[in-house]
Amino acid sequence: MHKSLQLLFLTCVGGVYGETFDYVIAGAGTAGLVIANRLSSNPAITVAVVETGDDVRQNADVQTINFSFTSFNTSINWLYPSVTSAALGSRNLTYRAGKAWGGTSSVNGMVYIRGDKAQYDAWEDLGNKGWNWDSVFSYYKKGEHFITPTSAQIANGATYDASAHGTTGPLDLGFPFTVSNSSFHDKARDTWKVLGLDSITDLNSGDSHGFDTAPMTLDPPAGVREDSARAYYTPAEARSNLKIIKGTVKRITWADAPGRTAVANGFEYVTPSGELVKIGARKEVVLSASAYRNPLILEGSGVGNPKILSKLGIKIKVKLPGVGESMQDHNIIAMTYALKSSLDGGRIPYATLPTAQDVFGNKTASLAASTSAKLAEWAKALSDLSDGAISPSAIEKRFRIQHDLIFKKNVTVGELFPTNTGTGILAQFWTSMPFSWGSVHLGSKDKFNEPSITPNLFSATDFDLDMLAAVGRLSQKSFATPPLSDLIADNVSPGYSKLPLNASDDQWGTFLKGNVLNALHVVGSCSMLPRELGGVVDEKVTVHGTRNVRVVDASIIPMQLSGHTMAPVYAVAEKAADIILAEWK
Ligand SMILES: Cc1cc2nc3c(=O)[nH]c(=O)nc-3n(C[C@H](O)[C@H](O)[C@H](O)COP(=O)(O)OP(=O)(O)OC[C@H]3O[C@@H](n4cnc5c(N)ncnc54)[C@H](O)[C@@H]3O)c2cc1C
Ligand SMILES: *[C@@H]1O[C@H](CO)[C@@H](O)[C@H](O)[C@H]1NC(C)=O
Ligand SMILES: *[C@@H]1O[C@H](CO)[C@@H](O)[C@H](O)[C@H]1NC(C)=O
Ligand SMILES: *[C@@H]1O[C@H](CO)[C@@H](O)[C@H](O)[C@H]1NC(C)=O
Ligand SMILES: *[C@@H]1O[C@H](CO)[C@@H](O)[C@H](O)[C@H]1NC(C)=O
Ligand SMILES: *[C@@H]1O[C@H](CO)[C@@H](O)[C@H](O)[C@H]1NC(C)=O
Ligand SMILES: *[C@@H]1O[C@H](CO)[C@@H](O)[C@H](O)[C@H]1NC(C)=O
Ligand SMILES: *[C@@H]1O[C@H](CO)[C@@H](O)[C@H](O)[C@H]1NC(C)=O
Repeated sequence: MHKSLQLLFLTCVGGVYGETFDYVIAGAGTAGLVIANRLSSNPAITVAVVETGDDVRQNADVQTINFSFTSFNTSINWLYPSVTSAALGSRNLTYRAGKAWGGTSSVNGMVYIRGDKAQYDAWEDLGNKGWNWDSVFSYYKKGEHFITPTSAQIANGATYDASAHGTTGPLDLGFPFTVSNSSFHDKARDTWKVLGLDSITDLNSGDSHGFDTAPMTLDPPAGVREDSARAYYTPAEARSNLKIIKGTVKRITWADAPGRTAVANGFEYVTPSGELVKIGARKEVVLSASAYRNPLILEGSGVGNPKILSKLGIKIKVKLPGVGESMQDHNIIAMTYALKSSLDGGRIPYATLPTAQDVFGNKTASLAASTSAKLAEWAKALSDLSDGAISPSAIEKRFRIQHDLIFKKNVTVGELFPTNTGTGILAQFWTSMPFSWGSVHLGSKDKFNEPSITPNLFSATDFDLDMLAAVGRLSQKSFATPPLSDLIADNVSPGYSKLPLNASDDQWGTFLKGNVLNALHVVGSCSMLPRELGGVVDEKVTVHGTRNVRVVDASIIPMQLSGHTMAPVYAVAEKAADIILAEWK
């Protein structure tokens, strides 16, 4: 049979035949619209994006920069349940993500913090040639349109280093209209200095260590959120070679190609009315459906762990046991404080990022040694939790690099992030590099909207709990140290009676296990790593064992970063778009 006839025949079987494009993308989210914009900038390339959600650019809950979670309980969110971890008692964590053009960038907190240079250099150490700080930094700048703070914002603490930012990219980045006034900022800054954390000029320069103001993805003159739909779709909207199609991708369709490498020729997606439609890809398929959903699409297409696929009754196309494993998040918790008198109404985008030395003090060296000696044990525990999907030696190698980042390269290990609630301060804090990784898989063959998520918080090692307690103690101490303490009337939750300033490890353990949450900064479920380390995509973001299936979004980030995940997703997508375009023939 003639090749193109054969393709046409295949895409017609068992469903309505849709259109064919050069590239088809699953998900018009944070990363998906970056890819769509960059590929379709060449008018010779046709691109379609299949997305479950709608255009929310005019939705007031999305536009507002007075982040008050107004969009949280609305239909533009995915709410995924998870199975409970023993460490959390009977509590189940819920995972939230955006369901809209713009994806999670349309519902998130807008805070833009990239993480540390050494954490990006580690991607190369893990086996991804060309992925290091210098190269990713250039893509950060390419994507960015930095808007310098006003003199009023500078007076209230906004600082920046122009050399860390780009000014000609599509993504607006600035400071909120009203940065909370200097009465909070100056006291917080002075307290952190007393505690050994100096203020820094720009936490996005590759060194986040210290106290600083954080920029946000917003358009200060317009006073609206900047999400990937506004930044990357609006300028490309008029292109006739770019189309967004409403639907939910179920699985990849495969060409009947010779050889051992799998060749995709499109997707099957489900329309809002429940019809199964096929869409053809002449060149490639790109998965940008989030860290929760890409593993489900791959598993539904026969790409994954044979043990899991055989249980689901899915025929194996590519044996790839790393799919859905090493799901990594930040462990987050909050305390609340009452103020003696309320602050002005602004946001306080102030972040403090401490190193291991800052939180463990003179115990750091002995902890570095004792935890180093335990990495093999933790790796074995995590491998067992994954039912052997990734070998203990592969996990140990990854843990070793993570341990070096924490104890030798001195990356920041946590973040303390206060929010002005009007009536008080919500003092959130989290750890950035826990060792207990989770997983996300397809739970049953046709439930492609229902990820089965196993968070595994605190399950591979108690050290994750110790790190969170150490960051928590520093948070508590900061609000009790002058001059910041001058503003504070009381600790309302959990209250000093439950968790006094001299609380024991046991008291901290009880508080943390009872209240810890998932930060929703999930990465790693389709990690960019060599196959032997449990990787899913290679350094060209191509799924191992396939010729033309790429994955581009938070799911390919192989190891957690300090700060937040949206910024890295934008830079990863910019770099991936260049890699894909370089191979366009
Ligand atoms: C409440 C909340 C607050 C956050 N706050 C911050 C913050 O302040 N700063 C920060 O840096 N990070 C924050 N994050 C995290 C950050 O926003 C995400 O890590 C990042 O946006 C993820 O981008 P992505 O491209 O991987 O996925 P997404 O942006 O989620 O895109 C995935 C897209 O795919 C679509 N989709 C899913 N499945 C399918 C399917 N089968 N077929 C078709 N379409 C599909 C989805 O609807 C979505 O549009 C927050 C996250 C949440 C949930
Ligand atoms: C969302 O709904 C839940 C459950 O009904 C409720 O507890 C929560 O306060 C709501 N959140 C917001 C921001 O409205
Ligand atoms: C939590 O998840 C478990 C499965 O792990 C389930 O049996 C239980 O009903 C869930 N509990 C709640 C409160 O949702
Ligand atoms: C900050 O706001 C508070 C409350 O509105 C006010 O009392 C204080 O004077 C302000 N400080 C500065 C420096 O503007
Ligand atoms: C956002 O907050 C500012 C400052 O408190 C206020 O002036 C503005 O009206 C608010 N905007 C919306 C849309 O709520
Ligand atoms: C660490 O510091 C504490 C208090 O600052 C002190 O009591 C302790 O002796 C020190 N330990 C070591 C090993 O130096
Ligand atoms: C990391 O911190 C330790 C302890 O402060 C110090 O001895 C070491 O030189 C630092 N390493 C780097 C790479 O900064
Ligand atoms: C904390 O201090 C209180 C009062 O000084 C004391 O009663 C208590 O035993 C201390 N707790 C710990 C864990 O040291």
